[in-house]
Amino acid sequence: MSSRRQTIALVAATLALATSLSPVARADDPPAGGAFAFGLGDHMTVLVQPRHLKVGLAGRERNWEYLKHGIHELEEALEHAGKAVPKWRDLDIKALIEGATKAPIEAVEAAIEKKDAAAFDAAYQRLTDACNACHQSAKVGMIVIQVPKGPSPFLNQDLRPAATKK
Ligand code: HEC
Repeated sequence: MSSRRQTIALVAATLALATSLSPVARADDPPAGGAFAFGLGDHMTVLVQPRHLKVGLAGRERNWEYLKHGIHELEEALEHAGKAVPKWRDLDIKALIEGATKAPIEAVEAAIEKKDAAAFDAAYQRLTDACNACHQSAKVGMIVIQVPKGPSPFLNQDLRPAATKK
């Protein structure tokens, strides 16, 4: 092999190795070599669902300081899901997520800013309804999100306002 050919072969092999080792998989890439691809349902379950739950639990406790942080994290989780999986089946997920959740999230933020409990409850219900409206339009209407009921499952995190913490 000429040294030029050797160089080309080496570059090609390095590129192939770098690609196979790359931790950043694009959403439209097929899973390489059976590697696990983080799909829309995974983003929803692992990032969006717990953030939605914590906002609901902290809201119940009227923990405004936490809520400012928590609603921002939920917004980012939704944004991230849309960026990571912009297309799902034939749907424009990124646009659907933004269209469904932007206004209700702003309403939740406004209620938190004013520390208005009744407005928060109404806006959080509206946001939860938006989750379900999108599930229905995406034909996964069997996925029903609700305002959390019962005790917090986060046994290692105190979601009450600072004054009530011991
Ligand atoms: C694009 C519109 C859209 C919006 C907005 C949306 N989802 Fe989803 N969600 C989906 C789709 C589509 C799936 C199914 C994905 C799959 O099966 O891979 C899903 C799946 C889920 C799942 C998985 C459920 C299971 O048991 O498998 C959960 C949990 C979930 N969503 C929670 C939420 C919450 C909470 C919100 C609101 C804060 C929300 N979603 C907003 C489209 C949406």
